[in-house]
Amino acid sequence: MTGDNESIVAEFVAEILSTRKYRLICDDTVRDVIVEALPKYKRSKDAVKAARTKLHRIQAAYLGRNRLDSRLEDIRIAYRADDRTALKSICLDLMTDHASTRERIPCLEHFYERIFQITGIPKRILDVASGVHPLAIPWMGLDCDAVYHAYEIARDMVDGLNGFLEAIGMMPLVHFQDVICVPPEQEGDLAFLMKMVPCLERRQKGIALQLIHSLRVRYVVVTFPVQSLSGRSKNMPEHYTKTFTESLQGTQWKLAHVPMEGELVFVVDKNPTSEKHQQNCHP
Ligand SMILES: C[S@@+](CC[C@H](N)C(=O)[O-])C[C@H]1O[C@@H](n2cnc3c(N)ncnc32)[C@H](O)[C@@H]1O
Repeated sequence: MTGDNESIVAEFVAEILSTRKYRLICDDTVRDVIVEALPKYKRSKDAVKAARTKLHRIQAAYLGRNRLDSRLEDIRIAYRADDRTALKSICLDLMTDHASTRERIPCLEHFYERIFQITGIPKRILDVASGVHPLAIPWMGLDCDAVYHAYEIARDMVDGLNGFLEAIGMMPLVHFQDVICVPPEQEGDLAFLMKMVPCLERRQKGIALQLIHSLRVRYVVVTFPVQSLSGRSKNMPEHYTKTFTESLQGTQWKLAHVPMEGELVFVVDKNPTSEKHQQNCHP
């Protein structure tokens, strides 16, 4: 990078992180969008404009309310009292703040059961670009010693979710990490890559497949929205089924479609020739 460009990058990162809207976003993300944009435009002014638009698409739609901190004590009390009904009801309430998890609420009762019928119940999970999805842990039927890593670029969400994991007796392993700049290194049994492929691909073409390759897990649960945030459907299930299936051609992976209402769900088995782990289902 030229000296000029280096100072444009530094200025852009400092300016973005000083705004109220983006003050809690991962600085790697901000740096990456401007570094990617600069070579594509003759005028740095246009690159800065394009980088701003990209940031808006990556993050702005998800900068909702974050009420996690205000409910942590209630969660702790419900967990200690082994009151699963109260715990689930608090999580459901918090899930409504985020579009991706809100849309999943109607099928939570069978969502993980259907997936784990294929994969077995995982003991080590990676939740890639998690949003507030870890709030669904009470529906997953995991063992009490399960290890749950999550990766997110919104600092307040990371802190709130680590508080949540501790409150329900799990290790706080939510990482403040941009998975394009720094792909997850942890090993696991299964990774969730939910409602994220279109967003990743908009940022960098081909990155979704690269990421699935690099994840150190056997199973990757890849899901797609079936309607846009504005509620339009525009043949999204057909379109994503076709493009995702085609993108896997040439790999040895096995793809299973898991029927689900309100979300297009696939399980990618990256090691289909090895034995399936014997795992018992928990109620
Ligand atoms: C569409 S939501 C999906 C949330 C979750 N996976 C779900 O389906 O419930 C996208 C989330 O990913 C985060 N995100 C976007 N780009 C990311 C990246 N490169 N690395 C880590 N997190 C990212 C956003 O902050 C947002 O919370």
